[in-house]
Amino acid sequence: MSARLIDGKTLAEELRTAFKARVAALAARGQRPGLAVILIGEDPASQVYVRNKVNACEAAGLFSQKLVYPVDVAQAEVLAKLAELNADPAIHGILVQLPLPRHFDEKAVLEAIAPAKDVDGFHAENAGALAQGAPRFIPCTPYGVMKMLEANGIDPAGREAVVIGRSNIVGKPMALLLINAGATVTVCHSRTRDLAAHTRRADILVAAVGKPRFVTADMVKPGAVVIDVGINRLPPEEGGKLCGDVDFNAVKDVAALITPVPGGVGPMTITMLLANTIEAAEREAGRGGDKRHA
Ligand code: GUN
Repeated sequence: MSARLIDGKTLAEELRTAFKARVAALAARGQRPGLAVILIGEDPASQVYVRNKVNACEAAGLFSQKLVYPVDVAQAEVLAKLAELNADPAIHGILVQLPLPRHFDEKAVLEAIAPAKDVDGFHAENAGALAQGAPRFIPCTPYGVMKMLEANGIDPAGREAVVIGRSNIVGKPMALLLINAGATVTVCHSRTRDLAAHTRRADILVAAVGKPRFVTADMVKPGAVVIDVGINRLPPEEGGKLCGDVDFNAVKDVAALITPVPGGVGPMTITMLLANTIEAAEREAGRGGDKRHA
């Protein structure tokens, strides 16, 4: 093994420890950051993610509210709940777990969240602010990746960065963050021709494809920083374990730095959700939302 591991688990723990002082400072002002998480349907992966988000809130001293709806719930009912949460002073962050059932208009739902409570950063207003280089809420997974680069002394300025994946959740905001940090960025996706020709140029390679072991050693430049955003469950005949988008065992001999799965980007995503929720509560407190005098 030649590559050094980028340890997301330890960094996530360090950041969560540092959050305690911010949560205590808010508590001294009568404020407790509150997150509402909406889960629609019974997608097993979404159920796990939502449970982990709610548990992380409890562990960090945040208030959390989990709202679960059946898969056939009417969109209007969810929109009415979002309007209620937007007006609820105990709630500083609102998250609707994606993907939504097919009868939902995802854009309409995300846009029904008040931008000041949009801790996922998916509202068009927050996505636009990020695109303009003045972000207010940064989507949690790419935010976590930037923190991992920073903590490992990797400055993207002047480097070639290649992002595989163009989703609104990871790929696009990841590319914007890297551009804002001074990297020269290429975004590859399912329609890209000769993907390896692009990825082999990358000093920083971010894989957000959703396909197990998609990035192979021949696609990676020697000495590159490889960030694996994938969380794929292998079929039972392959052991049923979690596996990233990168063929870790082969790529670790080519890359200089690499994130493992699990223990890489995954723990950072929820950590940055906590960061955004605490930030939302701090902004509210700064606007005079001090409950002791309310
Ligand atoms: N589904 C997969 N990742 C995410 C995320 O970061 N936020 C939400 N709301 N849904 C997701």
